[in-house]
This record gives sequence, C-alpha cells and structure tokens, in this order.
Amino acid sequence: MTLLTYREAAIEIEPGEDVLSALLRAEIDAPHSCRSGVCQSCMHRAVEGKPPAAAQQGLSEAQKALGYFLACVCVPDTPLTVVPAQEAESRAEAVVHSIDRLSGEVVRLRLEHDADFAYRPGQFLELIAGDGLGRHYSIASLPEEDPFVELHIRLHPGGRMSRFIAEELAPRRRLHIAGPLGTCIYEGVDPDQPMTLIGSGTGLAPLIGVLRDALRRGHRGPIRLYHGARERDGLYLHDHLAALTEKHANLSYVSRVLSDPGPQGGDVATAALEYEDALPHTAFFLCGGEKLVGRLKRDLYLKGASLKQMRSDTFLPASASR
Ligand code: FES
Repeated sequence: MTLLTYREAAIEIEPGEDVLSALLRAEIDAPHSCRSGVCQSCMHRAVEGKPPAAAQQGLSEAQKALGYFLACVCVPDTPLTVVPAQEAESRAEAVVHSIDRLSGEVVRLRLEHDADFAYRPGQFLELIAGDGLGRHYSIASLPEEDPFVELHIRLHPGGRMSRFIAEELAPRRRLHIAGPLGTCIYEGVDPDQPMTLIGSGTGLAPLIGVLRDALRRGHRGPIRLYHGARERDGLYLHDHLAALTEKHANLSYVSRVLSDPGPQGGDVATAALEYEDALPHTAFFLCGGEKLVGRLKRDLYLKGASLKQMRSDTFLPASASR
C-alpha cells in the first residue's frame, strides 16, 4: 500500500491503483474525463514526493519540474502529497527584509517567507497588501542561495500599490504573498544549448532569476541577455550585469535605451532580432509588456525560432490579472 495525502485526508492506494481511482474511492470529487492520460482534466500537483515519469507524459518540462502530473495514469510506489492543479498556489505570510531603490522608479523588495513557499526563479507571485489590494510581480531571487524572495517593482505615479510601497512599506512590516505561478523557468534547457533572454523594464527581474539559475546549474552554451528601457536610468542593473560578463565567458549583455539617439539607442526588440542567429536551436525567455512579447514571439518565429523553445512572462496592466 502507498500513502496518498490529499488536504487533511490520508488515503491508502491499493497495489496497481491510480491516484484518480483512489481519490474517487475516498469520495473526493476529483475532476476527470478520459481516464487515459489525454484530456489533462485530472491534473494535480505533488507538493511532496515525486510522481512517476509515466504520469507526466505530455506535460511541459516546466510543469514536470513543478510536480504536476495526471492522476488517472499515476500509479505511485512512494508516498505523495497532492493538491488539485487549480489549488497549487499557496498563500503565505511574508515579512519585509529590505526595500531599496534600484533607479528613480524601480524599487527592490526583499521578503522573508515561510519555508513551504516553494518557487523557481522566473515565476511570479501575488503581493497582497490587504483591502483587496494585490499585484503580480516576478521573482528575481534563487531559493538555493537567497534567504528571501526578491521582486523588482516599478512605481507608477498615482498607482494604489505604488503608493503603498513608497509610503508605507518598511523593514519588518508583515504582509501576504500568494503563488507562485508561471512556467518561465530554466527547465528543459540543454546545458549546451544557446540561450537568449530578452526583456524591457522590470521584465529584467524574471530574466535575472533564470540567468542565475542557469549559471548555478553550469549552463555551458552561449547566453545572451538583452535589456531595454525608455531612459538610461531604467537600465537599473547595468553595472552589475556588465561585471557578470567578466566572470562568465559564455555570457554577453546588450542594452538599449529608447530615448538615446546614439549607437546604444533604439528598442531592444529590434536589436535582438538583428543579432540573433542559430534560431531553431535557441531557448528563448521573453519578458515584458504584451506588445514587446507578442512582437518578439511573432518575429522570432518568422526568422526560424521554435515556438516550443520560447518561454515568456507577459506583464499585463494592473486592472487585468496575470
Ligand atoms: S482524466 Fe483525462 S487525462 Fe486524466
């Protein structure tokens, strides 16, 4: 017998029995349809334990790495703690570790969080300030090295969350986070594969997370990072990134400032589309506003890039939910 934990229930899985059948036998109303690993309506996530590879066939590398699996074809031989895919994100308390300015309009917020808030760099979370005030921000930190979650937040004049962050947030203040969400992470990338990261504004945050993860895991292929901003002040980690290229021979960094009429001026998408080659084999990470990410996906695909090799994090306006 193998033990399955679902919410507060402990269910014994009989030999040869799949997780979906065990849940239904325990009178848990688990969603399902085909019962043959095709429709994905029975998707769950293992928050403890590892589902067998056969239960993850057809899922993306990111979903596999995050523990998602199909319950109807999952016959585990080790204990699993599972949640329905829709409930996979968790809510946790967080405490402000530090808050500082990276540029005139970008702040770096570092939050200490409960150990059970598990994430991968490049995912995003919801920062909840109470009174129905919540916004999504991408994660720039690395759980293996940082004792906090790091967010890069652009302050919008007149924005409610921006005002809260600028005027009320201070070290030791308590708030809540929910998530994580998103699959723009370093999974399914061959260590020798070319890798290109393109972002504008605080789209740099998830790219920094992915870049640090790739370097920590010994990525050997060439890595190109493009960062664009409207004004020079918006290249808020320029010196840090330039210094990083000195340490890693396979890393190059290109920046573009929209308002600059000089050779370093112009938009970052045009620069990336001009320089990129070896497109079918390159793993792309695209982060920023809808217009930028949409244009890059379309134009890179037309130049020969593979849609399967594109991971993206699209920033939507505060009124829409990312
Ligand atoms: S019920 Fe269709 S994939 Fe499991």
